[in-house]
Amino acid sequence: MIPMCDLKTQYMSLKSEIDAAMQAVCANTNFILGPEVRKLESEIAAANQCQFAIGVASGTDALHLALRGLNIGPGDEVITTPFTFVATTEAIGMVGATPVFVDIDPDTCNIDVTQIEAAITPRTRVILPVHLYGQACDMDTIMAIAQQHNLHVVEDCAQSIGASYRGHRTGAIGTAGCLSFFPSKNLGGFGDGGMVVTNNEELYQHIEILRRHGGRVKYYHDELGLNSRLDELQAAILLVKHQHLAEWNERRRENAYRYNELLGGRVDLKRPVELTSQGKIIPMASMHTENDLLKAVYHQYTIQVDNRDVVMNHLQKAGIGHAIYYPVPLHLQKVHSELGYRPGSFPHAEQVAANCLSLPMFPELTASQIQTVCSVVLEALDQSAKANTTSRAA
Ligand SMILES: Cc1ncc(COP(=O)(O)O)c(C=O)c1O
Repeated sequence: MIPMCDLKTQYMSLKSEIDAAMQAVCANTNFILGPEVRKLESEIAAANQCQFAIGVASGTDALHLALRGLNIGPGDEVITTPFTFVATTEAIGMVGATPVFVDIDPDTCNIDVTQIEAAITPRTRVILPVHLYGQACDMDTIMAIAQQHNLHVVEDCAQSIGASYRGHRTGAIGTAGCLSFFPSKNLGGFGDGGMVVTNNEELYQHIEILRRHGGRVKYYHDELGLNSRLDELQAAILLVKHQHLAEWNERRRENAYRYNELLGGRVDLKRPVELTSQGKIIPMASMHTENDLLKAVYHQYTIQVDNRDVVMNHLQKAGIGHAIYYPVPLHLQKVHSELGYRPGSFPHAEQVAANCLSLPMFPELTASQIQTVCSVVLEALDQSAKANTTSRAA
């Protein structure tokens, strides 16, 4: 049995520290916006190369509050990718704005920056790139377009904490970055949690009051806010885990490179691609080269295969975890039917949604587990290729 993600092993490795941190919060009963939240905010701001950080209730709220904080609302358009988790567009909808989709680059699965300008209208206020699977989008191009058209950039970093682009942390490049501490994320709590990071003091001050019912002074409310505070217990746990994030992200990269090596050389399997200033590469464990453009943190290791059902069947039988992130792109979801997109609107997002398959990925994954996963995947592809040849010959 190899799980997709192994939270138990991680907890057991830090049990005494985490348990002590939780006990300390219980003992001092400072449960709401206490010293642990403040400490985590300052640690994450610093690690993320930002001046400010605001702990909120979830990654979804981080996105929602970043948009609210920038006064995005009805009539405004936000350009984003259709190949992401629904939280990205939920946040846009929650402020009353309209998502405008742009297709993805099928190699990186991130927004295709060459198509962004064509989607800009007089109503566009924000570009909302999602650093999917932990790999930064082409931020130089996105920032150049944003500057030229006077747009904000709100980065969805739910999957990319610790990732960087040309030496800059994701989340520190645009106007704001939105993190998620959902348990399975690279830095996961024991429940929901999120954070907005920014270098914009005005935005920081605005979100700081929005998350606490829209008022700086208790029982005096300047505007309609909400209750979205990161929990003190979660902050205490996250402070312990944050010490290990850089090392965990490094292990994820090593695991990804090991997968790349073992799954290479096939036409029926596409491996995840990293951007470099020289073009796109598939890094290998043996290369020992630093990517000069981005440092991906492999929240997921996602391959693309034509015969996905066959591969999933084999993985299932072998007791190996796997998942599809995401089976239906957002422009084809019922919730967005009123936007008027249809099958064929974004062919790359649709094709990747039909072929993508995420394999087990977590820092504690061993080399022999990766070997097992790869041999099951390759065996499934061999069998399916053989079946195809036989049916063609018949
Ligand atoms: C790309 C993306 N955006 C936003 C979110 C929302 O984060 P949360 O689950 O913390 O609300 C997630 C988390 O699943 C995500 O993967």
